[in-house]
Amino acid sequence: FDGRKDTLWKYKEFIPVDESKIVTLEEGGTPFCKCDKLGEELGVNLYVKVEGSNPTGSFKDRGMTVGMTKAMELGVSTVGCASTGNTSASLAAYAARAGLRCIVFLPSGKVALGKLAQAMFHGAEVISINGNFDEALEAMTALALEKHLYLLNSINPFRLEGQKTIGYEILHSLGWQSPDRIILPVGNAGNISAIWKGVSEFYDAGFVDSKPMMTGIQAEGACPITNAFKKHSKEIVPVENPETIATAIRIGAPVSYTKALNAIYDSNGYSETVSDEEILSAQKLLARKEGIGVEPASAASIAGLKKLVEMGEIDKGETVTCVVTGHLLKDPNTAIDACTKPVEVDANLDDLKKLLLNK
Ligand code: F0G
Repeated sequence: FDGRKDTLWKYKEFIPVDESKIVTLEEGGTPFCKCDKLGEELGVNLYVKVEGSNPTGSFKDRGMTVGMTKAMELGVSTVGCASTGNTSASLAAYAARAGLRCIVFLPSGKVALGKLAQAMFHGAEVISINGNFDEALEAMTALALEKHLYLLNSINPFRLEGQKTIGYEILHSLGWQSPDRIILPVGNAGNISAIWKGVSEFYDAGFVDSKPMMTGIQAEGACPITNAFKKHSKEIVPVENPETIATAIRIGAPVSYTKALNAIYDSNGYSETVSDEEILSAQKLLARKEGIGVEPASAASIAGLKKLVEMGEIDKGETVTCVVTGHLLKDPNTAIDACTKPVEVDANLDDLKKLLLNK
């Protein structure tokens, strides 16, 4: 792979689509930041995979470049998705790039502002559904089954073929070694399934000699997968009215739950919940200690790491990679609400000195 441009297409031999049809915004190749300050505080060797650095600010772009390439191969004219926000932002951008019609269903009032702005601005036909994500996805899937559009939610296997490259990149960045553990937020459960597929493929290819424990974190108010894990079950009980400040993972009936639970069980991994307070405090901790700004759902991975260390589930000295899935600016309202307002003062030296130097 050396000498190739640092996008996920450098692994093209492992991605099953027609190379001549690629629709790309040069996604992937995201930062892999060693976080010594936070790692020392928690007693682990910590790396953070910063997926907010993708073209539209989330990991969804990895799935979308491959999914949209498949759509071109198939010759479809319309693509669609239901979304808690990021998938719609990404789909809208890639559909624009490909020149296809794009329809997105969003749960009314529950999509962070930055994501809504992106979907609208890239020219998607945005429909606000009176209902939650699960209901929006059910409606979108029904339209797709009647062949009115090509579905690009993560139930589409080509989405996972793109997202699995997060796993590839983590192994590659560590010099063809696996971390002991990968921690990430889980919503519709596509991403944990995809990353497990990625690391397993590179393990099977002989590039690494071990695999990570896949550790999925859910919000307390939307945690069907953690509930199943704690009961050692492979079936979920859907959460009827999912609720969390991390709107990206406000999902009660994840479609890829079987793959996700298999990833967790097969890797000797774990699943845990975190509260909204834990999410918000982890979001601030990562921003202020390491300079990495992420949206609330992404901070669930850091909150989960902290909780599992405190529980003794994660051993001291483990090498851990937390995947942070979306950029801070996706949800500016939550960020502003978490801070005190700036002091307003005239640009007068005496006043400024009084304000700043007497602390
Ligand atoms: N983090 C962010 C920022 C997300 O947007 C999502 C999912 C996840 C984590 C969870 O990933 O669903 O693969 O388990 N967002 C979807 C959307 C549901 O519509 O944007 P998952």
